[in-house]
Amino acid sequence: MTTDQPHPQLLLIFGGPGAGKGTQASQLSQRLGVPHISSGDLLREHQRHDTQNVMSSGELLPDDLVTRVVLARLEQPDAARGAILDGFPRTVAQARALDTWLEQRSGTLRAAFYLDVPPDELVARIVGRQESSHRRDDNAAVAERRVDIFNREMPPILDHYAAHGQLHRIDGTQSIDQVQMQIVAGLGR
Ligand code: AP5
Repeated sequence: MTTDQPHPQLLLIFGGPGAGKGTQASQLSQRLGVPHISSGDLLREHQRHDTQNVMSSGELLPDDLVTRVVLARLEQPDAARGAILDGFPRTVAQARALDTWLEQRSGTLRAAFYLDVPPDELVARIVGRQESSHRRDDNAAVAERRVDIFNREMPPILDHYAAHGQLHRIDGTQSIDQVQMQIVAGLGR
């Protein structure tokens, strides 16, 4: 790396399936002028059959595959100043890989936001959008499985960022605009 390269600054958006990560990250991307990088969108572009089958079941994909795909996206020129990550990291191994990536580039984590939405509301939102999303994992049974996996994997990740004082918890049941305003307020602090 050359010394005149900018140091990337990342924002992380956490939340269960259907919590509004993509909705908020997309609005923030326009507001801040940095790309929104969704691990789910990147993986859906992966047309491999085995990848699509795992995603349709609601299970997580292997850490090495996901980490490789997301970090490669972060290396693209449009993310040189930073990005908003949605859906990554989702395991402790992914969080460690991201920490190392940032350290190697003298990058920083600007903030992490956790959109807190109760499980029944998460499932209702996913079922509510299934006709428009055309996603094979958007049905009640798989949504419940995705929520279970989220509840299993996420606590240590949230603890990891909370321990560094970088985690903002936001009530994700508020309106989309209210959630966005709280994220913006959190960035100003
Ligand atoms: P991914 O694509 O990341 O899906 P997800 O986490 O389940 O979340 P969604 O994209 O479904 O929801 P969202 O939180 O973005 O909510 P949205 O804004 O769309 O992952 C899919 C799969 O990929 C995983 O199951 C796994 O297999 C694999 N994968 C991805 N990342 C991985 C990783 N890091 N490691 C391993 N595997 C990985 O909103 C949802 C709905 O709610 C919309 O209709 C929206 O309009 C509505 N809505 C949003 N905000 C509000 C609000 N405030 N009030 C009311 N409605 C709202």
